[in-house]
Amino acid sequence: MTTISPLIAGNWKMNGLTSSLEELSALAQLLTTGEAPRAVVVVCPPATLLAAVAAQGASSGIMAGGQNCHVEAAGAHTGEVSAGMLADVGAQYVIVGHSERRADNHETDDLVRAKAEAAIGAGLKPIICVGETEAERDAGQAESVVAAQLASSVPDAAGQHEVIVAYEPIWAIGTGRTPSNDDIRQMHANIRDRLVERFGEKGAQIRILYGGSLKPVNAREILAIENVNGGLVGGASLLAKDFYTIISSV
Ligand code: PGA
Repeated sequence: MTTISPLIAGNWKMNGLTSSLEELSALAQLLTTGEAPRAVVVVCPPATLLAAVAAQGASSGIMAGGQNCHVEAAGAHTGEVSAGMLADVGAQYVIVGHSERRADNHETDDLVRAKAEAAIGAGLKPIICVGETEAERDAGQAESVVAAQLASSVPDAAGQHEVIVAYEPIWAIGTGRTPSNDDIRQMHANIRDRLVERFGEKGAQIRILYGGSLKPVNAREILAIENVNGGLVGGASLLAKDFYTIISSV
């Protein structure tokens, strides 16, 4: 069995002012004075703070990631940020296809795949999000929905380049609810099967993160589930102490 080094990514979403960099300093302090983290640590702040997070995080091993990128490298797309721009200010990762963007900005699987390809082209590692709605889970369609999202959102380039998949059941995001450990185990096993089917040995090494109400109280059990190779953390990543507790649960 291959061992995959775990990764914990914090998604600040549309939260954070320059004053929030104090929280990053607090996290850096915890990471450098406590026991060495057993996970790769990534913080994805809003674009306005990305350069500062990348610069400030470097000395404590915190990597920076964007929350979205455009499919094109440059051009007449007012308000957009390209993958190359994220890389230029020090990002190493970028979240693509988060369910909030799929819902708010009508992002399709094809668009998400194109964004992942743009990220890879710019030298970033895309964190590609998939996940079912509550109605889809209730209808017994969770696995087929996620399989379809994977098939269309993960680019072929994942066979040669590093990508990360994040399974985030939409109904668990920001709600304080999580699937049962058995449901998480089963979904992650299914995702693993799909990745191995498509990418062979390489697919066995792709990190599959769990996201959706991952908190200090449930992180230890969830992160110990087979094929859960880390987490994507929203709300609980905003407070250094909580995020550090989740990181140390690995
Ligand atoms: P949450 O968000 O941890 O606040 O549920 C997770 C996410 O949306 O990535």
